[in-house]
Amino acid sequence: MLKIKTAEFLKSSSKLEECPDEKLPEFAFIGRSNVGKSSLINMLTDRKKLAKTSAVPGKTQLINHFLINEAWHLVDLPGYGWAKVSKTEKNKWVKMIDKYIYYRPNLIGVFVLVDSRHEPQKPDLEFIQKLGENEVPFTLIFTKIDKLGKTLVQKNIAKYKRVLLSQWEELPTMFLSSSETSQGKEEILDFISSVLSKLKG
Ligand code: GTP
Ligand code: MG
Repeated sequence: MLKIKTAEFLKSSSKLEECPDEKLPEFAFIGRSNVGKSSLINMLTDRKKLAKTSAVPGKTQLINHFLINEAWHLVDLPGYGWAKVSKTEKNKWVKMIDKYIYYRPNLIGVFVLVDSRHEPQKPDLEFIQKLGENEVPFTLIFTKIDKLGKTLVQKNIAKYKRVLLSQWEELPTMFLSSSETSQGKEEILDFISSVLSKLKG
């Protein structure tokens, strides 16, 4: 398994232009507020307080870069939807996230997080649709699987697959995760590792 030797907070940016060094490859975590993006970064890096988490949606409000093994970045993004902020503020976030996703040259992996407890939600499907249309490769992560039984997880994922297959010929790579039990850690780190090694050629 990919070993995380060092993980450090690098920078918070309010827009694409402020983001750090474009030379290092990076992976970003995106999804609705409260889905568990920041918690997942902490779980993957084994650092409980690297990314700030909160039970209240809307915690992460900036583009946060973390430097891993002094060689690549993990990026924590604000969530879309849900956050108890004004419409103007929400639109600003959406624009910031979109610009980051579609114009960041060194972004080599996008993880879209969805809550495994829910049926497919419109904001997520729309977000995925746009990624697909723009040919941005992404991976789906079903979060918080510790919160429900295996059968229900499987049922919800099957539903998700059906909905995606009604629009797309191929399914994206999918992972199940729990930041409580660290389930999914090895698979997600292996995936990151394989993308990084392909890059080196
Ligand atoms: P924003 O920054 O607001 O967009 O949210 P976020 O997606 O970063 O979510 P965050 O990681 O802050 O987690 C939100 C809440 O869900 C916190 O109370 C976490 O403890 C909880 N949570 C996150 N992941 C898991 C998980 O895998 N299992 C359980 N049981 N709770 C989780
Ligand atoms: Mg967050």
